Amino acid sequence: MTERVVLAYSGGLDTSVAIGWIAEETGAEVIAVAVDVGQGGEDLDVIRKRALACGAVEAEVADAKDEFADEYCLPAIKANALYMDRYPLVSALSRPAIVKHLVAAARKHNASIVAHGCTGKGNDQVRFEAGIQALGPDLKCIAPVRDYAMTRDKAIAFAEKAELPIATTKKSPYSIDQNVFGRAVETGFLEDIWNGPIEDIYEYTSNPATPREADEVIITFKEGAPVAIDGKPVTVLQAIQQLNERAGAQGIGRIDMVEDRLVGIKSREVYEAPGAIALITAHQELENVTVERELARYKRQVEQRWGELVYDGLWFSPLKRALDGFINEASQHVSGDIRMTLHGGCAVVTGRKSDESLYDFNLATYDSGDTFDQSKAQGFIDIFALSSKIAARRDLRA
Ligand code: ARG
Repeated sequence: MTERVVLAYSGGLDTSVAIGWIAEETGAEVIAVAVDVGQGGEDLDVIRKRALACGAVEAEVADAKDEFADEYCLPAIKANALYMDRYPLVSALSRPAIVKHLVAAARKHNASIVAHGCTGKGNDQVRFEAGIQALGPDLKCIAPVRDYAMTRDKAIAFAEKAELPIATTKKSPYSIDQNVFGRAVETGFLEDIWNGPIEDIYEYTSNPATPREADEVIITFKEGAPVAIDGKPVTVLQAIQQLNERAGAQGIGRIDMVEDRLVGIKSREVYEAPGAIALITAHQELENVTVERELARYKRQVEQRWGELVYDGLWFSPLKRALDGFINEASQHVSGDIRMTLHGGCAVVTGRKSDESLYDFNLATYDSGDTFDQSKAQGFIDIFALSSKIAARRDLRA
């Protein structure tokens, strides 16, 4: 039987050429799989037909926007996940979502190989292949750009020679990856890390410096998940989409950073993730109100590790799964409302309300009639500080 390859297909030049390229290199039949995680652009059916026109024996498309929001973005919100304290893992979240569809297609069509369009220098090749190995340990992975030297120039020549129905005109100088959780832009003049980003590169956000009216929003969470905006019920996908619009219009969620890739390279990336940043900002503050101190402190360490695992492509790993268990347990009481002002590139929390609140007005107030017994504080401090006091006495003797 002819070998079969499932290819992660975007509809763009590289993966369109990869269909025929893989067939030539391996003699295998190629099945194209396109997964919609909210990247926008062309209609899924147009993409499906192009895959077939480019030589795929089968082509499948999946609208995975809700699945991506519920199963990938929501855990990231609950984890307040920000790699290197800033990047909300936009691309890193989409890869495992795509991998799940690739492996399912490989099973359905009896394919033994899964292919993707990544280069050999980035994180995404790791995320695809580590994910594929975790879900299908028997599957082989190939990457034509990396493994068969399918450079851009050669891809254009191939497309023109084979008369593939895909534009080969010089495209934008940037490498862009986008989905409903945000957008990543790199290369071009941004590779000089002294060069500031220009307005042109942004699509999800308006210039935060433009004068405009502020926007006030109330986000309701239930057990860590956004469930309503301004009192109207929303799915997780709708929450992200609506806040992409509203926070994006206020210039929120622009991130320009040099980051540590898993492969050892430091790279410069410009992100825009208005909905993600607004949701994480609100979620963090609701946790401040509803999560007990020791659990909250410990969760911060878990969050950082969770973000690193996901960034590094270990979404389907035992440790990541176990940390999800911890995060879900810690999210049990994270329910209530957060009011925020969206303006000038910032999402600023101005109010909190929760039936699960641990904020006790009578303990916190500086007005008379508080219920906190201040007479107990002195003894507490004496014993709390005792060990460092004893050490200080010794150090002073020396
Ligand atoms: N650096 C980000 C990550 O590794 C985004 C990768 C894709 N970026 C791009 N502009 N194509 O998650």
